[in-house]
Amino acid sequence: MSKKTFYVTTPIYYPNDKLHIGHTYTTTAADAITKFKGLQGYECEFITGSDEHGQKIEQSAKKHGKEPIEYVDQIVESFKYLWDKLEVDYTEFVRTTNEDHFEDVKYIFKKVYDNGDIYKDKYQGYYCTPCETYWTERQLDDEGNCPDCNRSVEWMEEESYFFKMSKYEERLLKFLDENPDFIQPAKRRNEMINFIKDGLEDLCVSRTTFDWGIPVPIDKDHIIYVWFDALTSYLTGIGFRRDEQKFNNYWPADIHIVGKDILRFHTIIWPTILMAADLPLPKKVFGHGFLLVEGGKMSKSKGNVIDPVKLIDDFGVDAVRYYLLREIAFGTDGSYSTDSFIQRINSDLANDLGNLLNRTVAMVDKYFGGVVPQAKVETEFDKDLEEVAQSTFKTIEESLEGLQFSTALEELWTLIRRNNKYIDQTQPWILAKDEKKKDELGTVLYNLLDNLRRVAIALVPFLPQAPAKMWEQLGIEEPLESQSWDYVRTKGQLKVGTKVKNGDPIFPRIDVEEYYEKLEKEKKAKEAKEEKKMAEENYITFDEFGKLDLRVAEVLEVERIEGSNKLLKVQVQLGQEKRQLVAGISKHYEPEELAGKKVVMVANLKPATIFGVKSNGMILAASNDAGDLTVTTVDRDIDSGSRVK
Ligand code: MSP
Repeated sequence: MSKKTFYVTTPIYYPNDKLHIGHTYTTTAADAITKFKGLQGYECEFITGSDEHGQKIEQSAKKHGKEPIEYVDQIVESFKYLWDKLEVDYTEFVRTTNEDHFEDVKYIFKKVYDNGDIYKDKYQGYYCTPCETYWTERQLDDEGNCPDCNRSVEWMEEESYFFKMSKYEERLLKFLDENPDFIQPAKRRNEMINFIKDGLEDLCVSRTTFDWGIPVPIDKDHIIYVWFDALTSYLTGIGFRRDEQKFNNYWPADIHIVGKDILRFHTIIWPTILMAADLPLPKKVFGHGFLLVEGGKMSKSKGNVIDPVKLIDDFGVDAVRYYLLREIAFGTDGSYSTDSFIQRINSDLANDLGNLLNRTVAMVDKYFGGVVPQAKVETEFDKDLEEVAQSTFKTIEESLEGLQFSTALEELWTLIRRNNKYIDQTQPWILAKDEKKKDELGTVLYNLLDNLRRVAIALVPFLPQAPAKMWEQLGIEEPLESQSWDYVRTKGQLKVGTKVKNGDPIFPRIDVEEYYEKLEKEKKAKEAKEEKKMAEENYITFDEFGKLDLRVAEVLEVERIEGSNKLLKVQVQLGQEKRQLVAGISKHYEPEELAGKKVVMVANLKPATIFGVKSNGMILAASNDAGDLTVTTVDRDIDSGSRVK
């Protein structure tokens, strides 16, 4: 019998900046579905990576004074660090700068070329560098900007290679018709179909305006279009051309998970490239919605970018993953806010789940000396309890088939709350008072513990840490890793006689006020640190600048200082006051040339004696490397003594 396999991908992220909570969203979803399939007995491949080529990356590297590879290396490390913190278990991380990938991309390009689907022509169009996409005038937005990101575009003309995408229009429409589930969610499917029906144009698949990329195999002056390069990573990750068996086991991919913004690349460009390369198409592409912050788009300029690493440090990985998967229906946009985050964690994790575990284990300790009792009799609530459990697990299976993580978790919490209700209904503390009800009490506690066991396993795809903590408190000896979805569906797997271990609450409640105070303190500490750093870097503060007393002075008399070929003795009028100062400018000015000028001087410089002459102030002058010098005068006439600020 052939093995059941499952292959999921995330987009490969651009390493031009640190990743934010939006990127974390995609990868968490991919990790959760992989772990769920793993529980169901599938052998899984889960590929993520970094999309390292293109003009945008080249420019970012330059801005940072680095070589592109040096620049991306460092950012890719930050990606891997984040995925480790999120406890994401990808099986392969594909970097597009990796040699295997180079070869795969060149191979696919050549294959499509040899099949007669790539030709050379001249390209003209409006180019959006951040999106690495050409647009026609008709496609630009009302302001003449990129229709995707609304940033400005540049007119470009270049000799390019073109992929005959238009040739595949009919075939693609037929494929979409025959595979109605290919594009998920359904509403996005219609958008894509309409886009195709508007007419597919041939796609420009090479560039000559930059070097940072994979050369066209038949023409080294051209670089392969970054999306052609990036999409091929889905083949590289599973051993394309290197490990035939593995590739055949996993391709076509079961699902590409992407954001709605890049669905077009995955449901039009990618399938047509695969058709042209004689490869099967992926089974599904899911375009999820965007994670907004307090209702708006995250952006550096707004200063509202949520750093997932900080969130994990503050609340733990389980809380972050739970929130992302529970709060927003996969496929629609959703909004992050600290308030909703804390509320969700407190009510679901600390209250419902944490309390259920705590109360149950404490009662087993108290009434049965910590030893799992037998369920000898049935209570009147058991049937309903099990019916809820069965329907919960069935719904979880169905919803995860369609990547509906929030429904799956909502359903699991229905079961958790049902168990809390079971405690209220059966009132174990009353049963405990009556020796004749001991068996009934045993049944109640056994059912609660056994359901906690099932919940712990069912949580494995979503929360990386809590299930192990629950397992520990339940005292189960078999390793959690050995459990499968069958153990979730089947009741009564908990061994009677197991010794539970009462422990700390697995989700302590978060105090909202305290958290905001902590954020405020951190903000202040950060500002203080930045201020200190600025001072260290020779910045002066506004107050420091204010200490300089700069004034307009009128030059009255000037004479050379005997014995010096540099110095002039200058008398100036400074408002009501007369001053004498020494200026080292005699190589550049004749004394009579200076007299009558209104110059800018530092009026509060500590007086000094230079060459035996008292100097009380300093005239400002500008000079360059070539040795030219000019004193600073004022643009319009103004009274001497006026302050310069
Ligand atoms: N490099 C391309 C993908 C190539 S795949 C062959 C790319 N990279 S990206 O880093 O810009 O974006 C990666 C993914 O992050 C996309 O799926 C995008 O939709 C997703 N997200 C970026 N911001 C997001 C939110 N605020 N919310 C949810 N997902 C978001 O595109």
